[in-house]
Amino acid sequence: MSVEPGRLLPLLTSHRSGRSPVTCEYRCGNACAHPAPNTSDNEYFGEVVRNVVSRRGALRAGAVMTATAAGFAALSGTAAATPAVPPALAGRGRPGKPGRPVPGTDFDPVAPNSADAVTIPDGYEQEIVIRWGDPVLPGAPRFDFNKQTAAGQAKQFGYNNDFVGLIPQDAGGWRNLLVVNHEYTTETDMFPAGTYDANNPTEEQVKIAWAAHGLSVVQAVRDPRGGLKVVPSRYNRRITMDTEFEVRGPAAGSEYLKTSADPTGRKVLGTQNNCAGGVTPWGTVLSGEENFNQYFANAGTVTDPVAAARLKRYGLSGAASTRKWERFDKRWDVAQEANEVHRFGWVVEIDPHDPNSKPVKHTALGRFKHEAANIKITKDNRVAVYSGDDERFDYIYKFVSKGKYKKGTSAYARRHNSALLDDGTLYVAKFTGDSPASEIDGTGKLPSDGEFDGYGEWIPLASGNESFVDGFTAEEVYVFTRLAADKVGATKMDRPEDIEANPVNGRVYAALTNNSDRGAAGKAGADEPNPRNGNRNGHVLEWEEHRGDAASTKFSWRLLLVCGDPATADTYFGGFPKDQVSPISCPDNLAFDPYGNLWISTDGNALGSNDGLFSVPVDGPNRGQVKQFLTVPVGAETCGPVVTDDVVLVAVQHPGEGAGAANPESHWPDGGSANPRPSIVAVWKKGRSGAGKIGVR
Ligand code: FEO
Ligand code: CA
Ligand code: CA
Repeated sequence: MSVEPGRLLPLLTSHRSGRSPVTCEYRCGNACAHPAPNTSDNEYFGEVVRNVVSRRGALRAGAVMTATAAGFAALSGTAAATPAVPPALAGRGRPGKPGRPVPGTDFDPVAPNSADAVTIPDGYEQEIVIRWGDPVLPGAPRFDFNKQTAAGQAKQFGYNNDFVGLIPQDAGGWRNLLVVNHEYTTETDMFPAGTYDANNPTEEQVKIAWAAHGLSVVQAVRDPRGGLKVVPSRYNRRITMDTEFEVRGPAAGSEYLKTSADPTGRKVLGTQNNCAGGVTPWGTVLSGEENFNQYFANAGTVTDPVAAARLKRYGLSGAASTRKWERFDKRWDVAQEANEVHRFGWVVEIDPHDPNSKPVKHTALGRFKHEAANIKITKDNRVAVYSGDDERFDYIYKFVSKGKYKKGTSAYARRHNSALLDDGTLYVAKFTGDSPASEIDGTGKLPSDGEFDGYGEWIPLASGNESFVDGFTAEEVYVFTRLAADKVGATKMDRPEDIEANPVNGRVYAALTNNSDRGAAGKAGADEPNPRNGNRNGHVLEWEEHRGDAASTKFSWRLLLVCGDPATADTYFGGFPKDQVSPISCPDNLAFDPYGNLWISTDGNALGSNDGLFSVPVDGPNRGQVKQFLTVPVGAETCGPVVTDDVVLVAVQHPGEGAGAANPESHWPDGGSANPRPSIVAVWKKGRSGAGKIGVR
């Protein structure tokens, strides 16, 4: 289902709103149906100024005039004549005149559709790499939808694959480690019709869910005929709710992390709601624990006002949890085990090269609903980690290590570099627009300077054992990071999802998926970095750290895309002609191809089409030319894109979700009357492996 390049791509007419109610219930605990947990009032600029002044002790508050470029220059303590960050970016290219197709993006775009299939461009082939229930470990039983067991699931590929990391083990990429997150379980789709009672799950069903969470590591070899094949291997591994993690960094051993089962506060069983992630330069995987709050029961019984406020800020409320895990292990009951909830919401690190390695929870990166974590090396060889907090009106964070990175993926380099993530400075982002506030009217109309853009600052929260936030100890900053960030004037964003640095141009990109509450009564209204009220389609942000250095505390930023229907006035595609782009809605996960083009997967398309994967050049005359590479089946979300020069991998998450097991809306990928199975798909150019390049004719 391809259309001619250059033709306006049709939209489907039925406008359904994003996800099914079941997806909302099981994926994020109905986050959008509850009030956004960030009720802080942190947008008053004077407050920010006072904090900056008191932190640095070197600025006079009187030097600050307005939240403009000039004001920012004054804030930075330099002469107003020398802006802290150059306003224009060298090499970005002025958009507007389409050039010849950019290498990596030269394919016929797929049209929006609602097919129960993965639809790819003409001239490409696809195959399933691995699906829910496929064997990972020796002795795994053959998948049988009607006869699942917890012991079997613990040896099989888990449910709802999200992040995908592809780590080559040789120069040609013939042998690879494939690392996949299993974000969550959808019990109403996982068990045969009539066997799952959401009010009374059986112990075995709950244990199947524990085993279906976590991560899988498998070895995948290139198939000479194209695609990737999973093989039995000593590297193959399952990480489940029973796997022991080591807590490291400044909050390890904190009173807030001690439980009756772990009086040391340093050992946690399991990881859950692992959303996106990142492959580190040293060959390990970072994975974000996202909507962990929904797994905990009885937050509503907590009466201590400080504890209750902390729980509320992380979206914990009410009595029983959706999955009722608390009936089979008291650690999921906040009333019985107050601190277990503090042991989730971290970035975890997995070393797939060593199947016996103990996974780590890195407390120095802060605790929030981590969407992902991606690394950029600073100019002086330290490690910067970017991470978004995926909630309406929450923040973007950066960690910069104290110690220096050692190149390589040897066991020594992996150990050394992993330890860098335990000591450094945690920052939160403050964005300032450079256009008058009166020009940001909430409709998406561009301001008179032609761009949503401006300047930014990284505000330090804590460094090692030192806190920079009034009223917070360092360990409180790490364990209750959201509340600390509320205090320092961080900018409330429209659901920050994946954040990733472009290896070719060095700039950093963030997907902001949507925020229908922007501008609602009592909520923060549009600002230049989040310029649309009732933002249903999301946007993509781009920034350049000062002097291109990831250690810098200043940056300049602009919106690359304001997503949605290109035919409507509220959308912006980097200045590219809007009659020559694919509609895109709800950007979520990001990846780069070897040419530096950005690839974006979507979650919850609000334009009526299935979700998909899109490419977009970010430099030169084709900057902003969004093209759809594939769509995923009915009800599914596109996750974990990996784009190499000759293969594309996507995780198809929750196909058909919402209809229930009796009458599934999707039969993908097994077809016939089969129930749907979340799976990883490989796409390559027709022909033998490596014979053709992705997006090159
Ligand atoms: Fe799991 Fe923010 O998506
Ligand atoms: Ca502007
Ligand atoms: Ca996602």
